Amino acid sequence: MLSLSNISASYGGSRILRGVNLTVPKNSLVCLMGRNGVGKTTTLKTIVGLVGTDEGTVELDGQKLNGLKPDARSRAGLGYVPQGRDIFPHLTVWENLKISLVVHGSKDETQLERVLELFPILKEFLQRKGGVLSGGQQQQLAIARALLTNPKILILDEPTEGIQPNIIDLIGETLVKIKNEGKISILLVEQYLDFCLSVGDSFFIMDRGAVVAEGPISHLNDEVVRAHLTV
Ligand SMILES: Nc1ncnc2c1ncn2[C@@H]1O[C@H](COP(=O)(O)OP(=O)(O)OP(=O)(O)O)[C@@H](O)[C@H]1O
Ligand SMILES: [Mg+2]
Repeated sequence: MLSLSNISASYGGSRILRGVNLTVPKNSLVCLMGRNGVGKTTTLKTIVGLVGTDEGTVELDGQKLNGLKPDARSRAGLGYVPQGRDIFPHLTVWENLKISLVVHGSKDETQLERVLELFPILKEFLQRKGGVLSGGQQQQLAIARALLTNPKILILDEPTEGIQPNIIDLIGETLVKIKNEGKISILLVEQYLDFCLSVGDSFFIMDRGAVVAEGPISHLNDEVVRAHLTV
């Protein structure tokens, strides 16, 4: 289980996160939602160690992650797919995946087979350069890479952004499949409401640097949406 307690963080002098509390239980897919600029990406960055915290703790299965560098947090079990998916455009799909295995010191190629089974399109395009893939294919590559680090928690920042609807459905189905295998929990930042409703088990909504609503996904009704998500 991943838990954030009372996380505060700033850029320069300005406070961006003001006491964020959030948990990702085992075997669950949690959606973190909120309007633009409320601090969703910053929250993910404090989890993976790209932004420091002023206060509060980040714990994974009881291990405190505060103070650990991003690579140590990755080894501790966090897999991160950033907003805008940063794959290597000049490397092939195969090389993009291989780098993830090498960086993680893994020689386990059966894992690569397994990940390619989840994303058949990548198997087909192993020799293509990352940069020529469509947005949806790049997103799948970014997710595949994160899975190769063997995470306990997969953390994704707006995986549906700028992606065509049929590929969004495919990505949603794949995330649910990964979760249902029972080894990986998922934390998803997402602004696309229908996607959250179809894949999520629970939700958190942020506004101005704090969590303002949370609950099982069935509680994400029109009233909550109107209060916190519509512009
Ligand atoms: N590197 C940075 N330096 C200074 N301010 C930043 C930086 N990154 C983000 N901010 C500010 O912090 C606030 C929260 O940004 P953040 O990216 O976490 O929001 P978000 O909820 O992910 O938004 P979006 O939905 O647009 O992705 C915003 O006001 C943003 O302008
Ligand atoms: Mg963001």
